[in-house]
Order: sequence, then C-alpha cells, then structure tokens
Amino acid sequence: MNDDRATVERIRAAASIAEAVSSYTTIRPSGSKHSALCPLPGHKEKTASFTLDDHQGLFYCFGCGRGGDIFKFYMLMENWTFPEALEFLARKHGIPIVRREPRPGELGRGAVEQILDAVLALYRKHLDAPGNPAAAYLQKRALARDLWAPWGLGYAPAGFDTLKRALGAKFSESDLVQAGVMVKGEKGTYDRFRDRLMFAIRDATGRLVGMAGRALGDDHAKYINTAETAAFKKGDLLYGLDRARKPAAETGYLLIVEGYFDCIRLHAAGFETAVATMGTALSPAHGRLIKRSARGAVLCFDGDAAGQNAARSALKHLLPLGLEVGLVFLDPSDDPDSLIAREGAEAFGGLLEGRRDFFDYFYGVEFSTPPSRLSPVEKSRRAHILMEMLSLIPDPVLQATYVARLSEGTGIPEAALCRIMKAPPPPATETAVRAECPDAEKFFLSRYLKDNSVRQAFHGRFHSGLFEAEPLHSLAQDLEKLGVDKACDFSHIIGNSHEIPEHAAELLLLPDEEFDLEPYWRVLQLRFLRKESARIQQQIAQAPPEEVPVLLRRKSELLRAMRDLQRGDKG
Ligand code: UTP
Ligand code: MN
Repeated sequence: MNDDRATVERIRAAASIAEAVSSYTTIRPSGSKHSALCPLPGHKEKTASFTLDDHQGLFYCFGCGRGGDIFKFYMLMENWTFPEALEFLARKHGIPIVRREPRPGELGRGAVEQILDAVLALYRKHLDAPGNPAAAYLQKRALARDLWAPWGLGYAPAGFDTLKRALGAKFSESDLVQAGVMVKGEKGTYDRFRDRLMFAIRDATGRLVGMAGRALGDDHAKYINTAETAAFKKGDLLYGLDRARKPAAETGYLLIVEGYFDCIRLHAAGFETAVATMGTALSPAHGRLIKRSARGAVLCFDGDAAGQNAARSALKHLLPLGLEVGLVFLDPSDDPDSLIAREGAEAFGGLLEGRRDFFDYFYGVEFSTPPSRLSPVEKSRRAHILMEMLSLIPDPVLQATYVARLSEGTGIPEAALCRIMKAPPPPATETAVRAECPDAEKFFLSRYLKDNSVRQAFHGRFHSGLFEAEPLHSLAQDLEKLGVDKACDFSHIIGNSHEIPEHAAELLLLPDEEFDLEPYWRVLQLRFLRKESARIQQQIAQAPPEEVPVLLRRKSELLRAMRDLQRGDKG
C-alpha cells in the first residue's frame, strides 16, 4: 500500500541517521563512525555505547542491544510503527508516499482528514464564541480553558445545517456524509452533531480520525461518534494515546480508563500516561496498541461486579502479549474525573500507588475465604480459575513464579497445578528473543558482511551450516543464496523487509579489527563437521541396507575433512 519499496529506498538515501540521532543526543565522531550516550527510551548510560554509521545509515547500541536503520531508530525513539516512521520521514524529506488509489467516489484518508480538520476548526470557533452552552458546561465541570485547544474540544451548534452553511462551498454533502459528520436522511442531509460538546479523536500518531459529541442536556444518547469509517473504529483506538505514548515509554505503563473526561482530567492532573477505551470493552487491537507503547498497563475500572468482569476479560488480551497488568478499582459511584474534581490529584495518585498486581487481586477474590476452610472441590474450582489466567503468561519464569505463589497460598503442590496448565500460548509475536550469538560466529559473519576481500578469501568455504545461533543462521542462509558479489549490497541483505534486523546492524557496526579469520572459520567448520557426522551416524543406524554404503562414504569424507582441519590447526 503506502510502504512501497521505492519510497523506503528514497527516504533511506535522503535521510541522515547522524542528523536524526543528534536531535536527541550529542554525537561525537569516532573513527569513521560516531558514538553517543544511548538516547533510546529505557536506557540510561554513563559511557557511550551507542554507535552510528552515517554512511551505512545504521545504528547499534552495544549497551542495550538495540539497533537498525533510520526507520527503526524512530520506531524505538518515538514508539512509532513502521508506517508511522515512514510517514514522518517522507514528510520531513518531501518525498511523496504512493498510496492505494481510493475507489471512484470513495474518499481517501487524506480527504477525510481534511474535512475533519475543517469541521473541528469550525466547532472550535463556536466554542470560543461568547454565550455558547458548551463553554458554560465546561466551566461548570471545571475543565480549565487552557485544555480546550490542546484536546481539540469544540461546540457543534444546535441547528441542522451548520456544516452545510459554513463548509458547503468547500465540500460536497456526500463528502461530509462519508467523513461521518453529516447524516443522509429521507428528507435530506443534516448535521450529525447538534448542540453537543465535541471531542477530537486522534489515532496514535495524532492524526484526526473522528469526533465524539456529548449531549449538553439530557438527550437520550449521552455520547455519539462519527460513523465508523476505515480510519475510525472505536475498538482500534485509544483516546489520548498520541499524547500518552511518550510518557508511557518512560514510566513503562499506560493507564487505561473509560471516558473522555477521565482521560483529559488525568492528563491535566499530571497522570500523562492515561488513555481511554471510549466505553468499549478492551479489545485485542487495544492490547496490541498498548504493547507497542509500553511494558504494561494499569487498568482503572469500577469496583463493582461489572468492573471486575471487565478486568477479567481484559486480561485475556493483555497477558498473552507479555504485558504486566496492574489493577485499580474505584468506588462504583466514581470515575477518575469525578474523584479528581472532588478530592484532587493526590487522591487518585494514592489509588494508583496502591494498585494491585492482577494475580494478587484475583487471588484475593477467589480465596477471600482462606483455602483451608474451603471444601476440596471448591478449592480446586478456584485454583482452576487462577490457573486459567496464569496459562496465558508467555514467560515461563514469570509463570512459574506465580504458580509457586498459588501453591504456597493454597498448599496445592506445584506439580498438580502445572498439570492443569493449558498448553502454553504461542510466544508473543512482538517480543523477539535476541539469541546470544557465540563470538566466533559473530566476528566471522561481521567481517564476511563488510569486507569484500574476506568474501573472496572464503569463496566456496562459506556456508550457513557454520552458524548455529538463530538470527545469524538465517542471515547466513540469505548470504549463501546471494552469492559472493551481491553480499556487499546492503539492500540485498535485508531483502524485502523494511526493518534491518538488530543483529545485522550489530554485525555491520562491530569494530573493524584486522584479525585473522582462518582460526574462526576452522572452529566453526570443525563444529559443523562434528555435528554432520553425528547426524549421518544416526541415519546409518536407521537407514535401509541399500542406502548404508552411501552414508558410510559420506561419513568417512567428513572424518577426513575433520582430520585435515585439525592437522592444519597444529601446523
Ligand atoms: P460514561 O457513561 O461513564 O461517561 O461512559 P463519562 O466518561 O463519565 O462521561 P461524563 O463524565 O458523564 O461526561 C464512559 C465512556 O463511554 C463512552 C464514552 O467514551 C464515555 O467517555 N460512551 C458512553 C459512549 O461512547 N456513548 C455513550 O452513550 C456513553
Ligand atoms: Mn464521568
């Protein structure tokens, strides 16, 4: 769609990673590269282990093990997705992004955004006009005026044709309907929002994707939204995320609440990691959004049965992603907005301080009667409920820690609890496990990647079997396929993926020491031959008789190669 390969390459060519990094931290030349104190979120260091190579367009931090190209840098730094980083860089360097053509009559995303921007500007103007009821309403709820503009609050006047009169010359009725701000009825087209306080709804990058309007009187619908469009799906959005993601990257968690007012009030009170689900249940898409912005989530719900159930079902979407989950429950008659308005920020701060780990909380719910006083059947039933939650945790160590706690509390042996554990969930897709690479593999591959003369020297002797550590093995397989000449072309190494794998960045940025690679190759090759011969030996044991001679021949070849290598080692 819009992440077209040519655009990516044009951006790579136009952008400078040195310039990008130096807008966050001071970089110092070091040989042909630059070094810096690592600016990436979550890594504070005193000695510079962050290295960048402007010529190759790569960075790698030898301290925190993160690296990649300019896209990856912004993805890590700003918590952006690849398309978000692409869009930012394209805009910055004036490179047009090729987008899917909208179908005839269909409004593209850009056109919808343009209409929404114009509508919001109009509603904002009406909120600033003297004597309008929304301003009075906000004053009554004590929402300070300096919050109105940054949060995109506005007022949709009471008439049915405000938009047509103000914007009719600029946009057609059908476009206004498609953007979700007008409704097509039997008697004509009219404004969707009338006499309502308006909220701008933005996606994670801050792009305006929709609006919500709150009734000022006692209209039967308290809140209505723009119609669902491709860009506006309530279950895929978290209100306030564009502002919360950066603070969340620092504190490590997002604070999840339900309402618009709650979210705005929390930010104003200094809780800048707050986002709102806009009244819908927490969805899998929400889980993924949270995962991209933070290590964990603190869910703030009503302390009644409904709130407890909402928390239970949210866990199903959060735990499998490896997110830490904390819980805060409010009095059912309160929400964060009303609590802070009444008792101040400290009152909420206290609750947040006292948040409960999800397991501790639900352990307390299930075993409010001590396990020793429960019947065996009842004790087992409750342990099953908790084990079902723990089964969702992908990290086996963390899971085991909780199981041990459950065992300790209930006296049920860990082994019994583990037997009722559901099959482990698939590993969280986004927590890529960075395998430790043994040094010989790393050094060898690093030089092989970077140095044309090394590639010539090992021509015919380089093969992927030399590398066992997983990321290196795949990289070597790619190089094997490319052959000697092409390996030096960086774009071939990364193939069609936009993200340069961390390990590739690390390899390309390892210091270029001129050490002799032969011993490294011998170590790796010897290991490969040993493994091969063990494998052949196993095949010999199971093969039908007619295949045995071939296998034996192969084995003796391997043994001879090993002897030759070892002889070379000594000589
Ligand atoms: P609440 O009913 O708890 O409203 O809905 P609230 O946020 O406390 O609103 P105020 O304080 O009375 O103004 C929580 C959230 O659910 C969504 C909105 O996002 C709201 O903020 N909601 C609620 C709707 O979308 N439609 C509704 O009719 C009601
Ligand atoms: Mn409220």
